[in-house]
Amino acid sequence: MKKHIDNASKWVNRGGPSPTDYEEFNSWLEEIAGEVEQGQMASQTLSDLQDAFGEALSPKTLQGISLRKPRGYAGDFEVIDRVYQRSLTTDPDLIKWDNFFLNTRAAHAVRNRKAYFIDLMNSVVEQSEEERLEILNVASGPARDVFEFFNQHHEGPNRDRHIQFDCVEFDDVAILYAQTLCFEYMENINFMKANAFRFTTEKRFPLIWSAGLFDYLDDRRFIFLTKRLYEFVDEGGELVIGNFSDYNPSRPYMEVLMDWRLHHRGPEVLTQLARDSGVPENMIYIGKEPEGINLFLHLKK
Ligand SMILES: C[S@@+](CC[C@H](N)C(=O)[O-])C[C@H]1O[C@@H](n2cnc3c(N)ncnc32)[C@H](O)[C@@H]1O
Repeated sequence: MKKHIDNASKWVNRGGPSPTDYEEFNSWLEEIAGEVEQGQMASQTLSDLQDAFGEALSPKTLQGISLRKPRGYAGDFEVIDRVYQRSLTTDPDLIKWDNFFLNTRAAHAVRNRKAYFIDLMNSVVEQSEEERLEILNVASGPARDVFEFFNQHHEGPNRDRHIQFDCVEFDDVAILYAQTLCFEYMENINFMKANAFRFTTEKRFPLIWSAGLFDYLDDRRFIFLTKRLYEFVDEGGELVIGNFSDYNPSRPYMEVLMDWRLHHRGPEVLTQLARDSGVPENMIYIGKEPEGINLFLHLKK
């Protein structure tokens, strides 16, 4: 253990890893993750190791916010939006840490999922002949994806088509933040404070999107919510669920330093969960963003 504490102090004294150190730093985190997995490191020891990072794991850094979870869970709207915007700490002594966080493969995957969403939206708009399209976005967080979609849509060839979003989110502060961000599009967005598990609607949507929620759910809750949301999909429409893959090179960093635990699921597991939710085999399709880390379970109807 002493060797790990000494190593933590080494990185802290350097102000964090520089890009040329990333490989070495990641290998060390993998070594620790291996020890935790094999039961060679108790949770108290892991917490002592985290303490050795001092300010580098304080709320001044992205990894510190993720560890401390001020909103009750990792990956809150603030962290996610800072990933989208590549927003760094204002403390110059801690910048290397935020740069490391923002350059992880997982952070790239999160930024890529915003592009995936915008592409998906554009193809839904192009394929539909409806003048007005209503979309359901579950666990909308900062709604940066919706905001950027509208920025492009209002300049694009389909700008005459009316797009309306219903955004379900249970965190008041996330809603306030998203409303401020999307101020100019508020006629087209209805933010609803609700727990996704209790949300219900009479509407039927051509697209229901949910990213950054299902990978926090165990299989039982995954199936429950999939069944429920699939009911709200219109005939010919689809439910698209984002979930981190079992291939995630950033997992040791997330788990060792941030206690950021997700239900990582590969394509076979996601497909089986879709079957278990009653979705016919020929309606299931798995997509992925360029990193191959964030998978998207498409359930057509
Ligand atoms: C990781 S963020 C993802 C935000 C957004 N979908 C994105 O991809 O940028 C997850 C969001 O889900 C919200 N959330 C988590 N559980 C929820 C639930 N049961 N019902 C509604 N919102 C929930 C959180 O408050 C948070 O804003």
